[in-house]
Amino acid sequence: MSDQKERVVLAYSGGLDTSVCIKWLQDEKNLDVIAVVGDVGQEHDGLEKVKERALATGAIECLVIDMREKFANDYLSYAIAANAMYENKYPLVSALSRPLIARHLVEVAHEFGAKYIAHGCTGKGNDQVRFECSITMLDPTLTIIAPVREWDLKTRNEEMDWASAHGVEVPTTKKSPYSIDDNLWGRAIECGVLEDPWIEPPEDIWTMTTSPEAAPDEPEYVEIEFADGLPCAINGEKDGLLSIIEKMNEIAGKHGYGRLDMIENRLVGVKSRECYEVPGALALIEAHRALEALVLERAVLHNKLGIEQSWAEAVYNGLWFSPLKEGYDAFLATTQLCVTGTIRLKFYKGNATVVGRKSDFSLYSYELATYDEGDMFDHKAAKGFIDLHGLTSKVWARNRHEQNVWTSVFGDESARWLKGNPWINR
Ligand code: ARG
Repeated sequence: MSDQKERVVLAYSGGLDTSVCIKWLQDEKNLDVIAVVGDVGQEHDGLEKVKERALATGAIECLVIDMREKFANDYLSYAIAANAMYENKYPLVSALSRPLIARHLVEVAHEFGAKYIAHGCTGKGNDQVRFECSITMLDPTLTIIAPVREWDLKTRNEEMDWASAHGVEVPTTKKSPYSIDDNLWGRAIECGVLEDPWIEPPEDIWTMTTSPEAAPDEPEYVEIEFADGLPCAINGEKDGLLSIIEKMNEIAGKHGYGRLDMIENRLVGVKSRECYEVPGALALIEAHRALEALVLERAVLHNKLGIEQSWAEAVYNGLWFSPLKEGYDAFLATTQLCVTGTIRLKFYKGNATVVGRKSDFSLYSYELATYDEGDMFDHKAAKGFIDLHGLTSKVWARNRHEQNVWTSVFGDESARWLKGNPWINR
C-alpha cells in the first residue's frame, strides 16, 4: 500500500492538450490520473469514446458526468435572474461552466482521496482563474497543477511530437483553426483569422445559428412563460429549464439570432477578439428583461441594473463561490419573486423582438398611462412635483445668472469655465 502513487483529478476534454496532460502528469509528477469528463451540453459525438481515449492514454479511471440539469438549474438560472452579460454583451458561456466543473472535480478528488487537481488551461486566459479560484474556495487544502503553463511545448507541432514520443494517441482529424468552448448556454470561438479584428468572421465558425441571410422568410412567434423569474413553459407547454434552453437554442438559432463579435477585456489584461453564438441565452435574457420591465418597481429595476453588471463581472472573474457573489445573489433573489408572466417573442432574420407581455403582477396601469378617455393621472399634481424636483437647480441658476457665470454649453459668451474646452469651442 505504501508504494501506491498519489492521485490527481484532471478536467479532461479528449483533445490533444488534456491527453498530453494525462501522460505528463504520470511521467513528470509521478501521479495516478483520474480523468473527469463533464457533459455541459457541448457538441460531441459520444463521450464514451472520450472515456476510452483517457483510459488508453493511461488514466486509471475516467468518469463521464452528465452535468446538464445542474448547469441549467443551479447556474444558468442565476444568470437569467441577473440578465448576465459581461461588458453589456457576453452572456458568460464559459465563465458559467467552470465553477460547475470545478465543483465536480473537487467532489471526485474527495471521493478518490486525491490531493491534486489539474486542468488544461493556458496561462493567458480567464478559464484558469475560474477553475483555480473555484477549486480553492471549495477546498483550500487541494493543490492545483496546470501542466500547459508548466511544460515547454510552445506550438501544436511540438506538442504532437511530444505526444508521439510518449505514446499518446495524436488525433488524426485535422484540428479546427479555432479555439472553441461550448455548452448549453452557447459557443465561444476565438483564434485563427479572428485574431485580426478587421476581418469579418468567416461563415464556417458558426454551428448553432443559420446566417440571417439564409434564415426563414417567415417570422416565428414564441411565448415564454416565467414563474418567479425562471422560464417554466414554452408556447403554452410546461417544461423544465434545461429543455426550454435547448428548444430556444434551436428556434432562435434557426432564425439566425444570437451571433456576437466583440473585443473583450480579459481579467489577465489582454484585449481579445471573441465571437459567440448564444441564441437561446440572448433570447431568454431578452424575454426576462422585458418581463422585469413590466413587474419590477422602478427603483428596484434601476438598482438591479448596477448589480447585474457587478454580478457578471464577478462571475467573469472567477468569483462564483465568493461571498461577494453570494451577496449579489441575495439581492437578485428578492427581486425575482413575482417575475411571473408571459413574453411573446418574434424571430425574424437575425432579430428577436419582444412584441407582447402580460403578467398578473404587471405594474403597468392603463388608467395612468393612457392619453385617451379614462385617464386617471392627476395632471395638476405635476406642477408641484416639477417645482420641487427642479428646486435646487433653480436656486443654482438664479445665483449663477446674477453672478454672470452662466455655464450653459449653448454658446453663451460668458461661459468662462468652458473657454478653451475643445468640445465647446469646435
Ligand atoms: N473569452 C471567453 C471567456 O473568457 C471565452 C473563453 C473560451 N475558452 C476557450 N478555451 N476557448 O469566457
